[in-house]
Amino acid sequence: MQKPSKRDLVSIDDLSSAEIMALFRHADEFRADLRAWSHLCRGSIMATLFMEPSTRTRLSFESAMLRLGGGVISAADPATTSFAKGESLADTVRVVGGSYADIVVVRHPQDGAARVAAQYARVPVVNGGDGAHEHPTQTLCDLYTLWREKGGLEGLDVVLCGDLRYSRTVHSFAYALARFKANIVTIPYPGFEMPAHVLERLRREFGVQAAVASVGELPGIAVENSAAYLTASRPHQLALFTRLDAVEVERIDAIYMTRAQRERHRGESTVGYPRLSKDSMKSELMRDARIMHALPRIDEIAYEIDDDPRSVYFQQAGLGVPIRMALMAFQLGAIELDAEPPALSSTDPGLKFPAAGIRCRNERCVTNGEGVAYLVGDFRVVVEWPPRLACGYCGQEMDAPFVGSGTTQRFHRHDAPLAKRITPEHRVYFESEEQARAAGFHDGA
Ligand code: NCD
Repeated sequence: MQKPSKRDLVSIDDLSSAEIMALFRHADEFRADLRAWSHLCRGSIMATLFMEPSTRTRLSFESAMLRLGGGVISAADPATTSFAKGESLADTVRVVGGSYADIVVVRHPQDGAARVAAQYARVPVVNGGDGAHEHPTQTLCDLYTLWREKGGLEGLDVVLCGDLRYSRTVHSFAYALARFKANIVTIPYPGFEMPAHVLERLRREFGVQAAVASVGELPGIAVENSAAYLTASRPHQLALFTRLDAVEVERIDAIYMTRAQRERHRGESTVGYPRLSKDSMKSELMRDARIMHALPRIDEIAYEIDDDPRSVYFQQAGLGVPIRMALMAFQLGAIELDAEPPALSSTDPGLKFPAAGIRCRNERCVTNGEGVAYLVGDFRVVVEWPPRLACGYCGQEMDAPFVGSGTTQRFHRHDAPLAKRITPEHRVYFESEEQARAAGFHDGA
């Protein structure tokens, strides 16, 4: 199904930090004269399959491929493609990724859909945003902007503000910032906090600790007495504060605003949604801050600060072209990155369960959505004992306190001595006894 050597970008984890830095260097070269590279991918075709609205992402991908000398075919309106007839994403990419196109960029409303496309396409796939899951090329633009503005990424204090629950750009960005040892402060619009599994992962893999302080309204962070201070309590430990007023901030390197992701809401009110205004920019705290936004902006940033030199959101969008040129030139083999790839890719298969077994609990996950008829669950064990699994598609985590043996068909609670004796390759995990029984396992107690 999958060519072993193809490089998909489904999650920001699919690029190593060294590769990201190498992409920046290529992007700098491309940016110096965007018109000088039309020999690089001559003859290549990029297909964009966009099942959600987009302006910047799709157009910057198309512009990037044209500047590399390649061609572009686009399905930008789901209503006029076979999706409207009920064709699966798997079938579509099987056809498009091959004789139609050499690289496929996918945007889809369901969490984890990009991994499905990567699994079924024979050519490299790029995630152009899948539901509330990830948006790794936006993160490349964001990191590239920050790197250029601040001269590096390590140790920066970055505030993520707004709808952190449904914003895929924020999720990919947080993973990358953590990897580059930036400090992350979150200011969620109440009720739209970072998903638990994102926080869990930041803590588990990067040592990012959530600190408890009370919510500062965004304009409040510009007020001196509600300032907060960001600390890392052990070397290389990253601090992540979900609330701000119990601590003191010395400076903010960047504040990343995100709009309310209404298309993923269920009618929740967004009255009092955070907004940056001229007043918020007056604080000493914001002296060197860069104002960032993936765009589109709705009302989170007042138009009056567009001309402030600290507002970099339009430059951020402009950098989308050279960084996407670098990414696609790399994926198509036109340039090499002098850097090691990551040890694991997000598309590597995890533990597969029979169709009747455990399913992801995220109702927005592609395994419960358009893939329900053809995808089986695919999980990773993220904590061995007590067992905790993460969905390989959307990242949602769940505890699986019952462990069965695939050879004896008996199950046990994870802390029973017999459970510990099951060899890892024979373990089958269950969320409940009922689930184990339903899968044909017997209580081994
Ligand atoms: C973002 C997206 O689609 O997730 N937009 C983009 O790609 N530039 C952010 C958003 O829509 O809020």
